[in-house]
Amino acid sequence: MADAPVKLRPEILAQRAYQQGKPAPAKSFKLSSNEVPFPPLKSVLEAAQRVDGMQRYPDASAGAVREALAEHYDLAAENVLVGAGSVSLLYQAVAAAAGPGDEVIYPWRSFEAYPGMVTVAGATSVRVPIRADGSLDLDAILDAITDRTRLVIVCSPNNPTGPAVGQEEFERFIDRVPEDLLVIADEAYIEFVTDPGALNATRILAEHPNLVIARTFSKAYGLAGMRVGYMLGHPGILGAFTTTAIPFLISAQAQAAALAVMREPEAVRTRVNEITARRDEVRRALIDQGWDVPETQANFVWLPCGEQTEGVDAILREGGIVARAFPGDGIRVTIAEEESVTPLLAACWRAIERYPYLRSEPGEE
Ligand SMILES: Cc1ncc(COP(=O)(O)O)c(C=O)c1O
Repeated sequence: MADAPVKLRPEILAQRAYQQGKPAPAKSFKLSSNEVPFPPLKSVLEAAQRVDGMQRYPDASAGAVREALAEHYDLAAENVLVGAGSVSLLYQAVAAAAGPGDEVIYPWRSFEAYPGMVTVAGATSVRVPIRADGSLDLDAILDAITDRTRLVIVCSPNNPTGPAVGQEEFERFIDRVPEDLLVIADEAYIEFVTDPGALNATRILAEHPNLVIARTFSKAYGLAGMRVGYMLGHPGILGAFTTTAIPFLISAQAQAAALAVMREPEAVRTRVNEITARRDEVRRALIDQGWDVPETQANFVWLPCGEQTEGVDAILREGGIVARAFPGDGIRVTIAEEESVTPLLAACWRAIERYPYLRSEPGEE
């Protein structure tokens, strides 16, 4: 970053901006941002294109989308808040809950955007390490709660490692969290969950007024470029998150697209099923190669590469695979189009041959 010619907040200057997944050169596959590879559904495209009145502001509350979501979840509209992607809502939530001197707890490694939103709010991040198998350690999160904690974020399935929190495990956890402490279940990948024992926080939302759920149309619904996400929770909490929102962020086209895709549950389900079946096949094949891939309930797999992350990433790139590398830690690979699987597995094979000590011990799985 260039030096600023004026006085700015030092903590902002020290914070790295959110890094977008790298674009793919021609003939490579972009597996770096957990998008789905399918083109928009025809009905969704048409709904967005039909929107007229660009000279007018959009409906700031995305009222029609709220109503449709409320009906879908059997909630009142006041229990739903729509934002420009769930990341936008998470920023609103952190700004509403925590300021200077307050702490926000989240697992780490987890979603790359969490640290930045805490810094912007002037609050302090408390990162609770995930377990060696990539799963969240909810007991350690409980232990990290202090009088200064204002928000706990639980990411399930966890980006970038893949495991989901168990439903019962989460219920035991939230029963032990102070009732006046806000907990956000970030369920951006919930639609890809196939384990019936995994968390679906909507099952217990009614019993926990301090629980808010974040979900999105960006992943399974294929609308990453439209920027629509939502939160479900208590109206008093969501009202505060409305106060911290930048008004009019959700365009009328985005609202129309979200409404239209909600009318296509079967088409969305078929696409999601294709991805989850491929995910399980790819993970199995990687484990057969010797990779220690954590259980994944999302639309990506995690390759733990430690110090070899950049070396493995270079081999993937040479093989036409643009994934998301976290130097010193590992590589997240989105499960996408069928044609990407053969080059992905071939590149992963070359990488593990090049760095054989990345192989897990037999029987370790
Ligand atoms: C865990 C998690 N939460 C939230 C988001 C934000 O998604 P969006 O702002 O597109 O809804 C992402 C996106 O990658 C994510 O991985």
